[in-house]
Amino acid sequence: MEPSKCPYPLDPTGSELHAEAAGLSARGPATRVVLPGEVEAWLVTDPEVLRSLFADPRVSKDPHRHWPGYRDLPADWPLHTWVSMRNMFNSHGAEHRRLRALIAPAFTTRRIRGLGPHIERITDRLLDEVASARPRVAVDLRARFANPLPVAVISSLLGITDRDSLDEMRRLVELFFSTTATPEQVVAGMETLYRLFGEHVASCRRNPGDDLTSDLLAMQDEDGSRLSDGELTDTLMLMFSAGHETTVNLLGHAIAELLTEPRHLAAIRAGELSWDAVIEETLRWQPPLANLPLRFAIEYIELPGGGAIRAGEPIVAGLLAANRHPAHRADGDLFDPARADTAHLSFGHGVHFCVGSQLARLEARIALSALFDRFPRLTAAFGELRQRPSFISNGHVDLFAIPVPEGI
Ligand code: HEM
Ligand code: HEM
Repeated sequence: MEPSKCPYPLDPTGSELHAEAAGLSARGPATRVVLPGEVEAWLVTDPEVLRSLFADPRVSKDPHRHWPGYRDLPADWPLHTWVSMRNMFNSHGAEHRRLRALIAPAFTTRRIRGLGPHIERITDRLLDEVASARPRVAVDLRARFANPLPVAVISSLLGITDRDSLDEMRRLVELFFSTTATPEQVVAGMETLYRLFGEHVASCRRNPGDDLTSDLLAMQDEDGSRLSDGELTDTLMLMFSAGHETTVNLLGHAIAELLTEPRHLAAIRAGELSWDAVIEETLRWQPPLANLPLRFAIEYIELPGGGAIRAGEPIVAGLLAANRHPAHRADGDLFDPARADTAHLSFGHGVHFCVGSQLARLEARIALSALFDRFPRLTAAFGELRQRPSFISNGHVDLFAIPVPEGI
């Protein structure tokens, strides 16, 4: 890529995600890009600059208040899902603090750890299904394992046990993430999902259980600043949606790397390498969100090393570029789970830091160890893996492997 000052049009199909990230890093710590819909933005690649912007109160995530260009967007702008939803992900300042404070106590380490046995049961059930495939037949581990696992886990955290609702929610999520869904199908699916969540909230109000939805409802009653019913549904939808594609991508990249480079698996089995180290390095090396839309400068912000972002200009966080930035790591493109500097920005930083990071790590630890324990001879059945057609999501279309090779 030419280090020119012309805005660089991001490839919406993500076909060269890594080369593109490297090229953007070479253009400077922050560079002008063009997003789908001809929207111009800054893409920040330098990890230190990114960290400081993530922590800067002059940077907002609320397009309604802080992005003048928002008004001119067409209704079918492809990134609407990312900015238009009214929830904590897209809020700023006091509003964000209020929404986040309401869920933080319900999302305790204790509740997450307590999910461990449950995640193990879900994992075992999915692996039973994988095991039922005929020997020597390749199974798509993305569709059959990595994808259904986070959906099942988050449903159980939220207390969604009604079989029919769960099946419907799963079907809708699959539809959202299928690359063939039409915009009309996505909109209709979202409406159905809202209705199902509304019904779930009503049912938990009648019969509270030991789940996050019931906790939030209890807090709604205790707390003077009450979370409105609409906000409660939005929050549950956010929890339900945020962990899917991301956790699936994390599992997919870890599985693909371990199958391609079996020496890491050998090191784990010899007790020389921990699962945690593999998971952190996978997160750094292949962040599930390659580029994170969208932030807005509230006022004129001078960037370290020159240049400035003007008030109202949108900002994309180049997480993939930042995690591998050559000025900060000479060998950033290398997968090295034993590296000393394990820092990465894959869960963000500052006030919006991912609420589900501990849950995602726990899921990955349980899922990966169970998969490779259950199928010690798991063998890759892929050549070149196909990247999902996105510049946001860094994952594979599918991930075929043979669980039980012939003769076992
Ligand atoms: C490997 C898996 C995951 C990755 C890579 C990931 C990544 C991220 C990132 C980068 C952000 C920050 C967004 C920003 O600063 O603009 C974020 C926020 C968030 N994540 Fe995750 N996430 C993962 C899993 C999950 C899970 C399992 C949940 C659900 C429990 C979840 C819930 C959220 C929520 C609610 C926010 C919004 C927090 C806020 O705006 O204050 N994430 N995530
Ligand atoms: C209420 C909140 C959310 C809802 C309703 C939602 C819904 C959706 C839908 C319908 C899609 C597919 C259609 C599209 O690409 O526009 C999608 C894509 C995606 N979502 Fe979400 N989402 C939410 C929040 C989040 C958060 C917080 C994260 C991560 C931190 C996240 C990660 C993703 C990813 C990685 C994709 C794939 C994007 C792509 O391939 O370009 N979602 N989401």
